[in-house]
This record gives sequence, C-alpha cells and structure tokens, in this order.
Amino acid sequence: MDKLPRTIRTPRLTLRPFELRDIEPRMVYCNDAEWARYFPLPFPYTRRDAEEFVVGRLLDDWGRDPCWWAADLDGELIGHIGLWPDPQNRHAEVGYAFARPRWGQGFATEVVSAVVDAVFTTTDFERVYARVDVRNGASRRVLEKVGMVQVGEVRDNRVAHGLRVDDAFYAVLKSDWPPAGDASN
Ligand SMILES: CC(C)(COP(=O)(O)OP(=O)(O)OC[C@H]1O[C@@H](n2cnc3c(N)ncnc32)[C@H](O)[C@@H]1OP(=O)(O)O)[C@@H](O)C(=O)NCCC(=O)NCCS
Repeated sequence: MDKLPRTIRTPRLTLRPFELRDIEPRMVYCNDAEWARYFPLPFPYTRRDAEEFVVGRLLDDWGRDPCWWAADLDGELIGHIGLWPDPQNRHAEVGYAFARPRWGQGFATEVVSAVVDAVFTTTDFERVYARVDVRNGASRRVLEKVGMVQVGEVRDNRVAHGLRVDDAFYAVLKSDWPPAGDASN
C-alpha cells in the first residue's frame, strides 16, 4: 500500500497523517458513549487511550501497517478513516468515524468514497469491504451511498461492550467503480 497517498483532498476535508496535536480532539470525540455504541473501544476513553492511538500512528510503517488518515476540517480533527490492506487477496477493509457534532453532514460518505477511489486508482486491489454492526443504521447508509452492496451477514460475529453482535458485510469491486449516478437510490 506504499503507493496510497498519505494526503487525500476531498471537497471539504484533508485526509492526512495523525499528528501529536490530534491527541486532545481524538480524546474528546472518542469519549462519548453514543459515539462508541457500536465500537469495541474502551469507554470512558481517556487521554492515555488517545495518546497511545496517536503515537501508534506516528510509529506506523505506511507500506506495511494499516493506513490511518486524520479527517481535518480547516485545521481541526473531526474524525478518522482507516484501511486494513490484505495484499495477498488484493482487498482491503475500511473503517471510519466522525465526532458527534459533525454527524449528518455527509462527511463519512465523502471520505469513504475518496479512500475507495484512491485504493482503486493507485493500487492493484480489486475489492474494498466494510463490516458494520447490523444496528448501526447510519453507517450502513453511508456504505450504500458510497456504492457498496451488502454481501452477507454474520451472526454473533464479535463482542462489543460485553455483548455479542451481528455484523453486516458490504463491499464494492473495482469493476463496479465508480458507481453510476447516485449510488444511494
Ligand atoms: C456512522 C458515522 C460514521 C456516519 O457519519 P456521518 O458523517 O454522519 O455520515 P453521512 O452524513 O455521510 O451519512 C449518514 C447517513 O445516515 C443516515 N442516518 C443517520 N442515522 C440513521 C439511522 N439510525 N438509521 C438509518 N440511517 C441513518 C443519515 O440520514 C444519512 O443518510 P442521508 O444522507 O441519506 O440522509 C457516524 O455516525 C459515526 O462516526 N458514528 C460512530 C462511529 C461509527 O459507528 N463508525 C462506523 C463503524 S462501521
């Protein structure tokens, strides 16, 4: 994945590597019970959790480790998007989240679309997929709007906040990219 750009510009955001100044806003947006409802992250999310995450990103090897982008709106961290590449199978999983005050403004759709596009235009990967708690209606809607289709559902797939949860899987193939027109209709 060393060819994937570390900085991607979307219509409103800059996707860039994490920096130390992101620790505080990362802590604030992750330390939100509603935000974390479908995420297997610690709650409360402490400054130390945020420090470990951001410092971990500074140590990442771009060619080998998962790719993480900070979603930057005019200098402010408002969310993130990560990509877990699987070079042997030429596919990657995508995951994302935005600070709650920024929900409902199309930011997740904008960044997922931009990262999927970057994968298909800069690498030989042929598939991008996402895994989402079946109850997470907003995230499922994002994937539909991007042009992914549901390809399966796995019952009791993992444990989040002590409960076993069902996951839906969504995917898009390079041969179907970009989607024709508005993929959400
Ligand atoms: C999921 C998440 C990333 C969506 O981000 P966002 O920037 O609000 O997404 P967008 O604005 O691009 O699109 C959200 C869509 O979901 C819809 N939506 C919101 N709540 C919904 C619900 N409960 N059920 C169904 N659709 C819902 C919105 O109306 C919108 O669709 P529309 O444009 O057709 O109206 C955000 O809610 C979040 O960060 N949640 C916490 C972390 C998380 O769950 N990440 C995903 C893990 S797979």
